[in-house]
Amino acid sequence: MANTFLNLTLLIFLHLSMPTFSMKLTTILTDQSALFALKDHVIHDPDNVLTINWIGVRCGFKHRRVTSLDLTGFGLVGTLPPHLGNLSFLSLLYLTDNSFYGRLPVQLSKLRRLKLINLGNNSLSGEIPSWLGSLTELRSLSLYHNNFNSSIPPFIFNMSSLQIINLKNNILSGSIPSVPRDLLSLQHIHFSYNNLTAHIPRDMFDHLPNLKGLYLSFNLLSGRIPTSLCRCKELQILSLSYNHLEGSLPVEIGNLSMLQFLYIGQNHFEGEIPKEIGNLTLLEQFDCDSNNFTGTIPREIGNLKNLQVLNLGVNNIAGPIPPAIFNISALLSIALYSNQLSGHLPSSMGLWVPNLEELYTLG
Ligand SMILES: *[C@@H]1O[C@H](CO)[C@@H](O)[C@H](O)[C@H]1NC(C)=O
Ligand SMILES: *[C@@H]1O[C@H](CO)[C@@H](O)[C@H](O)[C@H]1NC(C)=O
Ligand SMILES: *[C@@H]1O[C@H](CO)[C@@H](O)[C@H](O)[C@H]1NC(C)=O
Ligand SMILES: *[C@@H]1O[C@H](CO)[C@@H](O)[C@H](O)[C@H]1NC(C)=O
Ligand SMILES: *[C@@H]1O[C@H](CO)[C@@H](O)[C@H](O)[C@H]1NC(C)=O
Ligand SMILES: *[C@@H]1O[C@H](CO)[C@@H](O)[C@H](O)[C@H]1NC(C)=O
Ligand SMILES: *[C@@H]1O[C@H](CO)[C@@H](O)[C@H](O)[C@H]1NC(C)=O
Ligand SMILES: *[C@@H]1O[C@H](CO)[C@@H](O)[C@H](O)[C@H]1NC(C)=O
Ligand SMILES: *[C@@H]1O[C@H](CO)[C@@H](O)[C@H](O)[C@H]1NC(C)=O
Repeated sequence: MANTFLNLTLLIFLHLSMPTFSMKLTTILTDQSALFALKDHVIHDPDNVLTINWIGVRCGFKHRRVTSLDLTGFGLVGTLPPHLGNLSFLSLLYLTDNSFYGRLPVQLSKLRRLKLINLGNNSLSGEIPSWLGSLTELRSLSLYHNNFNSSIPPFIFNMSSLQIINLKNNILSGSIPSVPRDLLSLQHIHFSYNNLTAHIPRDMFDHLPNLKGLYLSFNLLSGRIPTSLCRCKELQILSLSYNHLEGSLPVEIGNLSMLQFLYIGQNHFEGEIPKEIGNLTLLEQFDCDSNNFTGTIPREIGNLKNLQVLNLGVNNIAGPIPPAIFNISALLSIALYSNQLSGHLPSSMGLWVPNLEELYTLG
């Protein structure tokens, strides 16, 4: 079982009566002073977690060093002291949902055992520091919902253990760096809600065979979707909405057989929606609204038995609505407004689309 800081204090007392443990004691006291430094740097602690119970501090069973510091959602206001870099056994650092501000102290680079970092939903600022690249054990890096304002440093795609990168909702600018080598662990990339510009790197998808979620929406990205995207065979969620992307939706999209959510609305895509979309039999939501798609609605969309949301609104799509679409019993919402569609909705529609809650066709 894990130990609270109270137990740690008790243990220090026990160790004091056993001189042979003095080495261990020194390091335990180092941890203690690091935690007291954190307390000193916190100017507001509404629940007194840092004075009364030190809930959220866990220690290793044998060595009694702090391995986990989880202070999620305690309304803490303050800065991060350099002393945190002395918690050398720390593998988990969660300070999520507080109001920590200022920069990340460079001393955190000494925490070579760190596996999980979540500093999301604070007011941290400055650059995303390059020393994070020295944390080779890191599996999850979450810095979302802060005020980081640098570009995305290239090392981020150089950390071979990383499974999740979440930098959503900051003020990051510049372009997305290239992925230089195979990252077999990386599953989720969240860069949405930033100010990223330029093209999605053409080689971005050559080295991410296990990518499951790619979130790039609400940025200033331009250019085309690289066709190498179809190499990410495990992709389940692709979110590119609200950018300045152009060109066609590559037919290779049909190779992403695990895809469940495809969001490409509010861009400048053109050309026809490829009929290969009908190969994505797990697709649950397809939103391509407010683009310049032309041609007709591919009847293969009728193959998508799991489709719940279909939004083709505000494009230049013409012709009839394929009746098979209204045979998709999973559908909850269809939006087809602001196109040049013709023909009638089938009179049997209600029979086959029992779950339909919203239907927008006019306009
Ligand atoms: C811990 O870190 C701080 C700041 O980085 C440093 O001043 C201090 O000497 C370190 N060592 C101990 C044992 O607290
Ligand atoms: C951020 O944390 C606050 C509590 O500090 C919470 O009320 C809010 O919902 C959180 N926001 C996000 C986006 O997680
Ligand atoms: C980031 O913000 C700081 C001030 O907080 C400013 O000095 C710096 O120039 C900004 N950097 C970028 C790239 O905008
Ligand atoms: C990426 O890792 C390689 C090998 O570990 C190293 O030589 C290179 O400098 C790193 N690049 C960046 C941008 O961190
Ligand atoms: C992001 O870019 C937009 C458009 O160029 C600009 O209006 C906005 O101020 C930028 N936001 C930040 C936080 O820099
Ligand atoms: C994509 O799927 C087609 C079959 O639909 C196949 O011929 C092609 O080789 C696949 N491409 C890649 C890059 O996997
Ligand atoms: C659609 O194409 C027309 C003509 O090329 C262009 O004027 C318009 O800006 C485009 N709309 C979007 C949303 O890209
Ligand atoms: C993908 O869709 C195309 C066109 O609908 C079809 O010819 C092809 O056989 C499909 N490929 C796979 C692998 O299902
Ligand atoms: C819709 O489903 C019904 C019942 O399975 C079937 O008879 C009909 O042919 C289907 N219509 C289309 C257009 O796929």
